[in-house]
Amino acid sequence: MNVLKTGFVIFTLFFLYSVSEASDGEIVREQKVEQLLSAMTLEEKVGQMTQVTLEVVSKPRAADALYNELDPGKLREAILKYRVGSILNCGGAANSLSNWREMITAMQDIAVKESRLHIPLIYGIDAIHGANYTTGATLFPQAIAMAATRNRELVRQGAAVTASEMKACAIPWDFNPVLDMGRQPLWPRLYETLGEDTYLAAQLGRAYIEGIQGRDISASEHGAACLKHYIGYSFPLSGQDRTPAWIPERMMREIFLPTFAEAVKAGAMTVMVNSAEVNGIPMHSNKYWLTDVLKGELGFQGFIVSDWEDIKRLHTRDKVAESPREAVKMAVMAGLDMSMVPYDYSFYDLLLELVQSREVPLSRIDDAVRRILRVKYQLGLFDNPVPGADQVPEFAAAGHTKINQDAAREVITLLKNEKSVLPLRKNIKVLVTGPTADKLTVLNGGWTITWQGNDEKLYPPEKQTLLEAIRAKIGEKQVLYEPGSSFEQLLNIKKTEALAAKADVIIVALGEDAYCETPGNISDLSLPAAQLELAKAMQKTGKPVVLVLFEGRPRVIRPVVDGSAAIVLGYLPGMEGAEAMADVLFGDYNPGGKLPFSYPRTVNGFVTYDYKPIEFFDSNKYDPEFPFGHGLSYTSFEYTDLRVDKITLSAGDELRVSVTVKNTGQMAGQEAVELYLTDTFGSVTRPVRQLKEFTKVSLEPGESRPVVFTLPPAAFSFIGRENKPVTEDGEFIIQIGPHQQTIHLISTATVNK
Ligand code: BGC
Repeated sequence: MNVLKTGFVIFTLFFLYSVSEASDGEIVREQKVEQLLSAMTLEEKVGQMTQVTLEVVSKPRAADALYNELDPGKLREAILKYRVGSILNCGGAANSLSNWREMITAMQDIAVKESRLHIPLIYGIDAIHGANYTTGATLFPQAIAMAATRNRELVRQGAAVTASEMKACAIPWDFNPVLDMGRQPLWPRLYETLGEDTYLAAQLGRAYIEGIQGRDISASEHGAACLKHYIGYSFPLSGQDRTPAWIPERMMREIFLPTFAEAVKAGAMTVMVNSAEVNGIPMHSNKYWLTDVLKGELGFQGFIVSDWEDIKRLHTRDKVAESPREAVKMAVMAGLDMSMVPYDYSFYDLLLELVQSREVPLSRIDDAVRRILRVKYQLGLFDNPVPGADQVPEFAAAGHTKINQDAAREVITLLKNEKSVLPLRKNIKVLVTGPTADKLTVLNGGWTITWQGNDEKLYPPEKQTLLEAIRAKIGEKQVLYEPGSSFEQLLNIKKTEALAAKADVIIVALGEDAYCETPGNISDLSLPAAQLELAKAMQKTGKPVVLVLFEGRPRVIRPVVDGSAAIVLGYLPGMEGAEAMADVLFGDYNPGGKLPFSYPRTVNGFVTYDYKPIEFFDSNKYDPEFPFGHGLSYTSFEYTDLRVDKITLSAGDELRVSVTVKNTGQMAGQEAVELYLTDTFGSVTRPVRQLKEFTKVSLEPGESRPVVFTLPPAAFSFIGRENKPVTEDGEFIIQIGPHQQTIHLISTATVNK
């Protein structure tokens, strides 16, 4: 080890010891990282920073093949010649559990047994709602739906199941959670987010990370989470995927950064970069946000991976780099540690040249590789690259399905229920119609079995569609069915109307076909006209219409809201979603989901619930179809005794707030209790209210329960004129349910640490 390196090791150990009170294990791990790093050649280091896709090491997959087959020659080339540190993805569609284990065992065997320094690979997939690229995996509601549960524990449990099923496949790395804020409803990736509220997303993001990583990230049933897409990806001005966002620094820090900051605190060790650009700068070239803020300010010790082909795109698409070589230099110098190249070895070749010609300093390479090795050691990959037969974690176990069923029920959000038309009696005759009534794809959305998730024939036949679930619940004879329309076109409407005449109630299931990323772009948030026409035709029959929506983003339904007796939103509720919806429709489960976004009333109605005063001034208003936090129940809840432990707060004080919630109706139910805060005056304009705490209580009829929240001092701060957190004296209003309490903050220092 040369003097510089020795100095660095001492510094790192000192840093870890003093700042994060490093354990003995962490000190030993850092020593191992440094020893290994000092033994590595430049080629080995640059290889570690290279990630390729499964196709690069596989035989071409026939269109009808159900699994990938590795190409031993290509695999050896990737691992032994190019020394790649990572491989990703599923090569087209889901593989079986045993195929995954075989493939990953073959890869790790070469990496660990045959490579010079025996460094294991880190394999990653987008397990965004379960281990979605393994046949038969437990597939949960998508993130936007999970946000409607307001249930941290359920999110944690679902993520723990995902980790266990991924690890059963010997895959230790999950490219999730998506911590982008869901504040642009057109964006086709809205359903991957945890909604429009920063606090809600930060809390549920933390719960997800705790589920994936557990207490011991190296345990056989846990793995590494990957926070994405850092930062500002989700807010494209046009609503189209991978188009420019314009986000001033204050807004970035107030709205988009806190989810990532919380996740870093929660111990997340990998981050994926925003595939697009913010303020004219592609994020893959943005040193300020990647190095200064993430690695510096937030103290992130893990590694940053690029998104798909995005380093190349600095040259080919964004034109900020004059050559592919310049693109590599730009990204690595901005702070990127690993390149998802993913189809070739150009990154490896170019980076090697750049270091040899001293255009990229070795210190930057060492920093990147140190971070990658740190994560590999943390994951226990050196000791146990493939969990052995005796340690294979549980896969698709009955307990996993039970958690999934609970999740699917808790996401369902009752938006409208005129004259308590729901729950329906089980002895009535229903007509089921609409394009989402008899498909599994519509319950799951993209990232399911295939990337787009839209290949119905690949879905497990034993799972139920809504039609099947309703038939199972009330008996085949009670159920009439006619699709009425496809997603875009009316079908046989006369026959549907004739059947409606024979039914007591019409269940119209509308929504979106499966999609993800750019192929899911739309230019009009309205639900397609044919679907609205179908609902209107059913409403004209005079029979009560229950609208069921399965959709990844809130499609505008204004023309059919008033004529519907009830509206139930299922989002993308996953494989158990249809049964859960049938349980809600027929009263076997009392819905408690709350909207994680403001449901727009018009196609341009993009105002979020935490709007600024000017957005509700003169003729401006917050006028959604259904507001953030809305969600009805079959029972009623009463809030009493809102109390605070202080009316006047000083700097650094916590505030305890309590309230009593009672189930005053006839049916057991769950209520998400939410605390909102208003900062009445501020030196920059303040949102009219912000969610600051939430919890969920289950109450039997007549039962009441106290709920206590403790707000930390940071709850009263915001990003001030200097783009730094400030807390200002003045009046704050606490709101829970229909009650409010005013408090005052006095004598605070103006700048927080
Ligand atoms: C997406 C990422 C994903 C990656 C790997 C990209 O197109 O933006 O979210 O993790 O592909 O599949």
